[in-house]
Amino acid sequence: MMTSGANLLGSGDDGDVTALVILGASGNLTHQKLGPALFSLFQKERLPNHVYIVGVARNEMTDEEFRNWLREGCGRPTGAEWDAFASRLSYVTADVTDPGSLSEASASIGHLSTDSDGRLNCLFYLALAPGLYEPAVSALSSARLTVEADGWRRMVVEKPFGSDLSTARRLNSHIHKVFREDQVYRIDHYLGKETVQNLLVFRFANAIFEPIWNRNYIDQVQITVAEDVLVGERGEYYDRAGVLRDMFQNHLLQLLTLVAMDPPYAFEADALRNEKVKVLSSVRRMSLRDLHQNLVIGQYDGYHVEPGVAPGSQTPTYAALRLFIDNWRWQGVPFYLRSGKGLARKSTEMVIQFHSPPHMMFPTPDDADLPGNTLSICIQPNEGMRLEFQSKVPDAGLEMKTVDLEFHYHDDFAGIDIPDAYERLLLDVLAGDASLFTRNDEIELAWSIIDPIIDSLDMPGAPAPYRYIPGMSGPPHSEALLQNDRRHWLPGCAEVGYVA
Ligand code: BG6
Repeated sequence: MMTSGANLLGSGDDGDVTALVILGASGNLTHQKLGPALFSLFQKERLPNHVYIVGVARNEMTDEEFRNWLREGCGRPTGAEWDAFASRLSYVTADVTDPGSLSEASASIGHLSTDSDGRLNCLFYLALAPGLYEPAVSALSSARLTVEADGWRRMVVEKPFGSDLSTARRLNSHIHKVFREDQVYRIDHYLGKETVQNLLVFRFANAIFEPIWNRNYIDQVQITVAEDVLVGERGEYYDRAGVLRDMFQNHLLQLLTLVAMDPPYAFEADALRNEKVKVLSSVRRMSLRDLHQNLVIGQYDGYHVEPGVAPGSQTPTYAALRLFIDNWRWQGVPFYLRSGKGLARKSTEMVIQFHSPPHMMFPTPDDADLPGNTLSICIQPNEGMRLEFQSKVPDAGLEMKTVDLEFHYHDDFAGIDIPDAYERLLLDVLAGDASLFTRNDEIELAWSIIDPIIDSLDMPGAPAPYRYIPGMSGPPHSEALLQNDRRHWLPGCAEVGYVA
């Protein structure tokens, strides 16, 4: 049975005009993500009927040049569909931090609704360098583009949202001078991934997992976001961020909240985000002394010669972190999180290991304990799930073997492409659904977990990054983090042969 979800179709075909205004439209994000996602939504007829996309940036470009440039990003489509989409695209050369300059954009947006009886809704997408977020919000306000006289006004802000708790707080309070919290959509594109959303469905649309989803049955949880790419052209940004800001504060902590949270009373923005906030509030904070037992950092060989990276940089490109969640459900269960660049393969997954049976009545080699069952959630690539359990080997006395049940997206949803995360997120903003966006308190709590860890790396006696060779699985020392707990990194989806 297939059940339909929320927001599959865009809203607003009643004469309302929607202007999606991309500030900083001449950058990579627009070219590689927003343009293709919007075109795909347009092809699927999921955008509001009267939607117009207005690119705003300092670079001189004509409407035609903007359209051609976006077309390239979409893989050079031709035909009536592209022409229809292209007719919705326009471009304004303006300094997004200057209210005077933005008034030209304002005039162009105003024109969009002249022939319509409906309201004019405006979505401002800040596809900007983070240093421009505050001035751009002020300029939008001064140019009176944020006044909700004739339709809604919303804004989308990309990551990084601040570089620590104090900058995140300052940015939140600056934004709140202009926009109410319910108008603000902070992107973490991991929440837009199909398989990440499926984690909620898996946990809360099935009755068999929730009763065992706690410390009584679960021994440990491992979350891995591995990347094979190197830092490449992003050295200047990355060297200031490092893996803890770039991946842990947002993506890994978001995955942690979804796997650990209590069931929300509804799939509704605040209900969901309240539960995530409870998890983040319960994460045990660490002192410098704790850090040695809970963190391993690494840097791939050759990182310091990447363009934009400071010579002798100690910025970690890999981290493995052990966290505990101090609440009734999770007390004592370690959550091992790791992420890095320059690793063997790209793979995002979670492994949930259950306890071993409390009493073993079957003979095992050397009377060893049997491993507990493991549930692997493969988020990308080879999306799906795998549950391991013990089975009797036929005609071999009571010999046992670990076997598995597998679910693959490509089998059960054959013929349905997994859309890019931005498609879902853009659609949700247009529909006014903030469930898959991070709230101000969530962002601040996430920084309050990561900040002390980053700060302590600068203290005397702090661990230095271990070197690792690109293409390997990270620094061998990350094993020690688990060995002290008599555990080890569990084989990932690819290692156990779970591939498409
Ligand atoms: C971004 C990080 O947020 O996520 C990048 O800044 C990282 O460094 C990327 O490569 C990973 O996203 P995905 O969707 O490719 O797993």
